[in-house]
Amino acid sequence: PIIPVILSGGSGTRLWPLSRRSKPKQFLRFASPHSLFQDTALRCRGGLFDPRPIVVGAADHRFLIAEDLLEIGVEADILLEPEARNSCAAIAAGCLQALKRDRNAMVLALAADHRIPDSEAFSAAVASAMPDGEAGALMTFGVRPDRPATAYGYVRPGAKLARAFRVEAFVEKPERADAIRHMRDGYLWNSGNFLFRADAFIAELDRLEPAVLEAVSAALAGARSDLDFLRLDEAAFARAPSISVDYAVMERTTHAAVLPVDYDWSDVGSWDAVGHATAPDRDGNAVIGDGMVIDGRGNLVHSESHLTALIGVDDITVVATRDCLLVASRARAQDVKALVSRLREEG
Ligand code: GDD
Ligand code: MG
Repeated sequence: PIIPVILSGGSGTRLWPLSRRSKPKQFLRFASPHSLFQDTALRCRGGLFDPRPIVVGAADHRFLIAEDLLEIGVEADILLEPEARNSCAAIAAGCLQALKRDRNAMVLALAADHRIPDSEAFSAAVASAMPDGEAGALMTFGVRPDRPATAYGYVRPGAKLARAFRVEAFVEKPERADAIRHMRDGYLWNSGNFLFRADAFIAELDRLEPAVLEAVSAALAGARSDLDFLRLDEAAFARAPSISVDYAVMERTTHAAVLPVDYDWSDVGSWDAVGHATAPDRDGNAVIGDGMVIDGRGNLVHSESHLTALIGVDDITVVATRDCLLVASRARAQDVKALVSRLREEG
């Protein structure tokens, strides 16, 4: 069976002020009884999957992780990162842990913060990706772009393999002009979930970014148990270069393959993405919670705990929580990240 490796380390800064350092996006519930993290774990049920996933997440969030899992009755290996070293190190840790269980392990590396409502379609895609994955390809699931988003990776499908296509080019987070071109040239979005043999990933990592592998191997070898958690060794893990799996491996490997999928998928990564994932009213306003728009178009309103009303404005994002208010032009959704960095600097 496939071992799910759930990456739960992102901070989701672009969804500020809804996501906070103390409660990042994957633990939020977007119009669902479950958090995105719980939905991710629940997506991997059935005979295809090992019922015991491996979760890799921040030590600071260990109780959020444990409580969310307890609530849905899932038991997991929980690897705790003393500090965030980005997705490459996290996936490496998950793969090495999976190899302890089974040296032929197949791993499904999953972002903990994506919305995929149709679990059956998702499982069917994973099953289709298996033959090429077992043959050693590093599989991604490709989504047809509906806009030239710059927050995603783009993959160009090439020669046909068993069920998937060899990746001819992988371009992580292109400039807008390039994104427009890639869309026209038939590139797909890398949906950021990956299937591969754990040993195949580790072999590529050893070739392309050996410093990550060295640090993570030492961090896992020196890990210590604490309650139900496994804490990675702090000094060793800190040596891992902070790089995403996309830049470290996927852009550079020649073994990448893509399976085109057509299930509904979104990385609810920014207010822009939340807007796209929310059914708009007839003036194109997406209103979540207690909000109201009069005489305005293309606005996104997310309001908690009080009423937020807009009159006569277009294309703005307004997010109101109990203690914060964000007002931004919709086109500047990605800049929330910069705002949060500044808030952190200023303490
Ligand atoms: N455990 C752990 N530790 N997980 C991490 C860390 C870390 O330090 N950093 C990131 N992650 C997790 C995030 O929680 C998320 O689930 C996943 O890795 C991807 O990280 P993001 O930061 O959300 O990446 P992205 O959305 O900018 O880009 C990736 O996903 C896109 C699709 O959503 C890339 O793979 C793109 O190519 C892709 O299009
Ligand atoms: Mg993401």
